[in-house]
Amino acid sequence: MLEMPKQKGPPILVANWKMNGNLQSINRLLCDLKRDFLDKELGSGQVVILPPHVYLQIVAKDLSGTSILIGAQDADERETGPVTGGVSAKMLLDVGCEYVLLGHSERRNLFNEGDGVIFQKLKQAVKVGLKAIVCVGETLEQRNSGQVLEVISNQLKPIISQEILPQSEELLIAYEPIWAIGSNKSATIHQIGYALSEIRKILRDVDINLSDSTKILYGGSVTEKNIAEILALDEVDGALIGGASLDPKSFSKICRIAKTI
Ligand code: PGA
Repeated sequence: MLEMPKQKGPPILVANWKMNGNLQSINRLLCDLKRDFLDKELGSGQVVILPPHVYLQIVAKDLSGTSILIGAQDADERETGPVTGGVSAKMLLDVGCEYVLLGHSERRNLFNEGDGVIFQKLKQAVKVGLKAIVCVGETLEQRNSGQVLEVISNQLKPIISQEILPQSEELLIAYEPIWAIGSNKSATIHQIGYALSEIRKILRDVDINLSDSTKILYGGSVTEKNIAEILALDEVDGALIGGASLDPKSFSKICRIAKTI
């Protein structure tokens, strides 16, 4: 039987603010973004902002009534209890989050998060109904020694277990080569296309529905200059944007371009 090409929905743009900003700068950023979004009807539910945890509620309140959604940059793998400094998935839902980012390379490296913990976090997140964006990607050394596929596959396999399949609609994958993050050196279109089609193959091997239902994003030095060609790739469902999302002009421009794709 002939396989029908997957229908792409509107691209999803996820702004990862990381540990940047303060009350004043965030208020200014939100003010600029809202003006652009409301004026130009950008977004339509496909733009997600991930502020630092402490500002989540303020951002959620400020953005209520707009089409912009919010999410968190991480969640604890435990449900509740004596976890000093921990923030649970349920708490994130409570303050208005719809998304959570998991397994970002900065969390993997700075906090020693391994695939096992990331899987526990994913289980908690989807259990409460958050959409979870799980990041995968290789270092430059791994790329240079021909290990891209092996690394991606090793990071993906532990998280796409049978346990997750019933909630696969809540799972998104972000391919973020570590060398491309914050480096001003995005992966090439060919490298992105290759990695994302391999990710889809891995998903298809587990379950055909998982491959069809999972949105896959690209992240790593996405700007208004390269967003059009990245989103034009068949395999790409959206982008994870760090640095450029902190500049309201750049981010609005990215959203405007995405709207025309
Ligand atoms: P960048 O960050 O766009 O600044 O490269 C992306 C990310 O780390 O999510």
